[in-house]
Amino acid sequence: MKVLIVGSGGREHAIAWKIAQNKKVEKIYCAPGNAGIEEFAECVPIGAMEFDKLAAFAKEHEIDLTVIGMDDPLVGGIVDVFEAQGLRVFGPRRNAAILEGSKAFSKDLMKKYHIPTAAYENFDDSEKALEYLETAKFPIVLKADGLALGKGVLICQTLEEAKAGVKSIMLDKQFGASGNRMVIEEFMTGREVSVLSFVDGKTIKTMTSAQDHKRAGDGDTGLNTGGMGTFSPSPFYTKEVDEFCEKYIYQPTVDAMAAEGREFKGIIFFGLMLTEDGPKVLEYNARFGDPETQVVLPRMKTDLVEVFEACIDGHWIRLIWNSKIMRRSA
Ligand code: AMP
Ligand code: GLY
Repeated sequence: MKVLIVGSGGREHAIAWKIAQNKKVEKIYCAPGNAGIEEFAECVPIGAMEFDKLAAFAKEHEIDLTVIGMDDPLVGGIVDVFEAQGLRVFGPRRNAAILEGSKAFSKDLMKKYHIPTAAYENFDDSEKALEYLETAKFPIVLKADGLALGKGVLICQTLEEAKAGVKSIMLDKQFGASGNRMVIEEFMTGREVSVLSFVDGKTIKTMTSAQDHKRAGDGDTGLNTGGMGTFSPSPFYTKEVDEFCEKYIYQPTVDAMAAEGREFKGIIFFGLMLTEDGPKVLEYNARFGDPETQVVLPRMKTDLVEVFEACIDGHWIRLIWNSKIMRRSA
């Protein structure tokens, strides 16, 4: 079996390491890959957004399975391009990857299907956003609608800061077209936990929990990041929290996407905030987390290729985890 992985981060390194353990896998390619990934895969100099070139490569090299690690190609519709050419691929189609690609979409979905999340309003007009802020409670959170390399979120302490934030997102386009729309939402406090899951369109199986070190500086100082380091499991993700999320967040999200005609196959990453009022969704991602994957996959005993196949074909597989505690710095 030949596998192609699309991406170039620590996440794709962890995916390649895990896939290499499957005895049926005789060759792994990674596009574009990185120096570390070369340990397990041949790196191919094709960019993650070059869908036609990637599909041509997959055909020419008789790739049996392509795994998309990154958000940009998923949101851009790489899975649709591969499927249209009869290529087997793991990841959500474009109409489902919108779960990550548009924060306004995901907030509306959660509201419609009563999935717990912070109170919010969506805006596509900066004047209306500024007006709304006049009577809002602070701190408040501003989010550019689209992908922004994990940086499109501003936590504003004062009205002045928030007004400057609206200007930089919607008018100065600090995050490009991602700022054409914006979500303004309630500030929540609590522990943050990441839960990744495998989804076959109808059913969901969560992976073991993980947690990031969010702040850039030592001693939890500095700006929030996508993760300066990570560990698994999270001691805050208790059985009670898991039961609540199973009932009110995980399956309801999969059902909501199916009900909207956006059947989701692939990874859903739930960014959760454990608030005093219970767990709430901070964000969804439509892919493995980076760096979380580096501590989650080493704890998974089940073969990853078999799980990917089970998701694509919609059959049942049991996930088994080891009890090791994993830690990684970014
Ligand atoms: P997101 O990309 O939506 O996960 O936001 C990035 C980070 O911003 C999160 O990991 C949180 O640390 C923080 N954040 C996002 N939304 C909120 C919120 N409503 N309240 C408090 N912090 C938030
Ligand atoms: N670590 C957060 C993310 O992958 O988006």
